[in-house]
Amino acid sequence: MHAANTPLSYGWITKTFHWAIALMILTMFALGWIASTLAGWIEAPDIIVSDNTIWWTKILFSTHKTLGVAIFFLAILRILWAISQPKPKLLNGDNTAEATLAETVHWLLYGSLVLVPLSGWVYHAATTGYAPIWWPLGQNLPFVDKDPQLAEISAALHFILQWVLAGAVLLHIVGALKHHFVDGDATLRRMLPGYTEALPTDRQPGHALPILAALVIWAAALGAGAWAGWLTPAASAQGEALVEVQSDWTVQDGALTIAIVQGGAEVTGSFADWTASIAYSEVPDDAGKHGDVTVKIAIASLTLGSVTGQAMGPDYFAAEEWPTATFAADLVQSEDGLIADGTLRIRDQEMPVQMPVTLTIEGDIADAAGSLTVDRRDYAVGLGTQDESTLAFDVSIDWQLTATRAATE
Ligand code: HEM
Ligand code: HEM
Repeated sequence: MHAANTPLSYGWITKTFHWAIALMILTMFALGWIASTLAGWIEAPDIIVSDNTIWWTKILFSTHKTLGVAIFFLAILRILWAISQPKPKLLNGDNTAEATLAETVHWLLYGSLVLVPLSGWVYHAATTGYAPIWWPLGQNLPFVDKDPQLAEISAALHFILQWVLAGAVLLHIVGALKHHFVDGDATLRRMLPGYTEALPTDRQPGHALPILAALVIWAAALGAGAWAGWLTPAASAQGEALVEVQSDWTVQDGALTIAIVQGGAEVTGSFADWTASIAYSEVPDDAGKHGDVTVKIAIASLTLGSVTGQAMGPDYFAAEEWPTATFAADLVQSEDGLIADGTLRIRDQEMPVQMPVTLTIEGDIADAAGSLTVDRRDYAVGLGTQDESTLAFDVSIDWQLTATRAATE
């Protein structure tokens, strides 16, 4: 068998690319659909899934992403190869309607081989996900930040584009089978292993119409997605915003983040909405209470990579029932430095907490930071997941803020 194409036949390199990628694409659909269905169960607030399901979902997604990235590079090689080769012309090019449809589908297939994996990859790179790509490359992409809105848009694009690909593959297979069984021509046979030459018709469709038709189909699919609202990410998390608080110190800027370890991989997230009421005085200049702090945290403002929805569910933060977490503490100067000594309440569970705080005050500006590790089980978070390798018990909480002293009359 010859490696290169001739004007009358496909060589084995084209055929190997074709069938290897075809097999991989069909596998990708099975993996994507099954993994997404499982992820839907995990995300559904009213379904409690087993550790086993969570483990399988992660493995299926990692396989999906790893194979998908391989398809992306293979597709580029394949396209470069196709450009370098003579292309055997259609055997029914004189049937203008069918031939134009066939070529439109070929353009959709080639384009999808790049666009579908790319959109999935951007989605992966924009999220702090828990299912890694197993290649030693590509966890992050240049020009792609961790950004929930970009993540939402690229996930929607991946979803829309994979349906265009699915439709194209279906039409493509139906066409191949029609050639074989209805028309009885050599179209399918010349793509199969072995040497098959076939004489194309003299008349062939032009390129312009099929390319235009493929572009119109993509535009229509994206337009339908935009019309359905999938391409407009939610402006902010749901849940009621916390009321601003008045206090001696006013927080100007800050961040409150958490890190969990899911399936051995760290996933970090942050709360967009929290308030702090802070009283603190540098005097007395010795040990003892210097002030107090009350922090309220809007649970629904958490973004936690691809598991944000899951985190809100009844077995985790139960955000609907317990929308606010509260940390209330005295600020006590001890031998080891400043300590926030109080309680942290998440859901309906309150636990005593002692957290070292670093604080520097310059004039009327204070910079403070602290971190804390809690055991999620103390707060009844994720009690359905008792396996540490699925979701570690320890959760780290980090915060830092800059506050200004309220003017004293
Ligand atoms: C040709 C390659 C690919 C095909 C055919 C494909 C196909 C699919 C399909 C059918 C789904 C399920 C959509 C649904 O029903 O919700 C899906 C979801 C997904 N794919 Fe791909 N995919 C490909 C490449 C990739 C790559 C390279 C990545 C990442 C590196 C990726 C990441 C994902 C993710 C994260 C989801 C879940 C989306 C969500 O939860 O909204 N995919 N893919
Ligand atoms: C599932 C993913 C598949 C993809 C992405 C795909 C993609 C493609 C592409 C891009 C071409 C054009 C090759 C060229 O430049 O001439 C092609 C040709 C072809 N494909 Fe597929 N294919 C897939 C599956 C299949 C399947 C399952 C069949 C058989 C039932 C099939 C049968 C054919 C045949 C017969 C041709 C040659 C058409 C001709 O000679 O005019 N393909 N395929």
